[in-house]
Amino acid sequence: MSYLEATNDLYKEAALTPDVGLCCTTNPIWELPGLKIPKIMQEMNYGCGSTVNARDLTNNPKMLYVGVGGGMELLQFSYFNRQKGGVIGVDVVDEMLEASRKNFKVAEEQNDWFKSEFVDLKKGDALNLPVEDNSIDVAAQNCLFNIFKAEDLKKAIDEMYRVLKPHGRLVMSDPTCEQPMNDTLRNDDRLRALCLSGSLPIAEYVKALTDAGFGTIEIRARKPYRILDPKHYPTDELIYIESIEVAAIKDPMPEDGPCIFTGKAAIYYGSKDYFDDKKGHILLKNQPIAICDKTAGALADLGRDDIFISESTYHYDGGGCC
Ligand SMILES: C[S@@+](CC[C@H](N)C(=O)[O-])C[C@H]1O[C@@H](n2cnc3c(N)ncnc32)[C@H](O)[C@@H]1O
Repeated sequence: MSYLEATNDLYKEAALTPDVGLCCTTNPIWELPGLKIPKIMQEMNYGCGSTVNARDLTNNPKMLYVGVGGGMELLQFSYFNRQKGGVIGVDVVDEMLEASRKNFKVAEEQNDWFKSEFVDLKKGDALNLPVEDNSIDVAAQNCLFNIFKAEDLKKAIDEMYRVLKPHGRLVMSDPTCEQPMNDTLRNDDRLRALCLSGSLPIAEYVKALTDAGFGTIEIRARKPYRILDPKHYPTDELIYIESIEVAAIKDPMPEDGPCIFTGKAAIYYGSKDYFDDKKGHILLKNQPIAICDKTAGALADLGRDDIFISESTYHYDGGGCC
């Protein structure tokens, strides 16, 4: 049995019998005025963060969600769109599609604005999406891509890139790990399917996105996720896994490389009213400006004693350079 088949089997089980502890999101379940998340959707929250961000969801975007789980984030996305077929939900596991379909009926009873027809559920594979080229404004996946091995991860990201419109956004949440994992962990299909042993270091994860052509990357959150300890897992050392929330934007690739926002800011504190680097960045005196890592490097290379550059917070929430 391949690791992809093992993954399908695991999520078939998780569809038939909700498993509250399957994934370990530290995000609170957020609700908005008039938005109620049914209990069954909360029990089937198999994500590791949130991909729903109001900043991405203005002007009735056409949305795609891959790996539907219990449907909670599709309901949250629908809140911002409220149109028939406004969110396409794709999953490869029939039982998961069926479970989410039932959950949307429960959501209809608890949310007077919601209709199941807002979500267009389709059977399909993240590696070969049943979606037209350049047709989606916001695509999302939560805790699925970390399961894929390198070649499949590349296919999955290329597929998302293909279906997004120019400047469209791919919003994701996935576990990441900065420590090396041994081959026993890496090749354990069940641990991989459980989102425990497939995760990459952040830099590799980001490179997979920029290699596909995404010109702008935003790292929006970085949080503790899980521990793999020698008593319970095949490892000699304690392994710390985090989860990140990332947006990859289908902007053209800048000639000097991608803009990767990791939560750095620059503050000019010199004697003038502002500093102009003549490359499109104006730093008003004593006002922090969010900068991408490329701009941070260029400003640091100037060697000035009147510009402060902060460390990455991994909490970028918009604005700034580029
Ligand atoms: C870890 S769960 C995450 C579910 C949901 N995103 C959430 O946050 O609760 C992974 C989901 O991806 C689905 N899945 C697994 N392999 C897939 C594939 N190759 N293509 C599409 N969906 C897949 C599973 O059925 C499951 O719904």
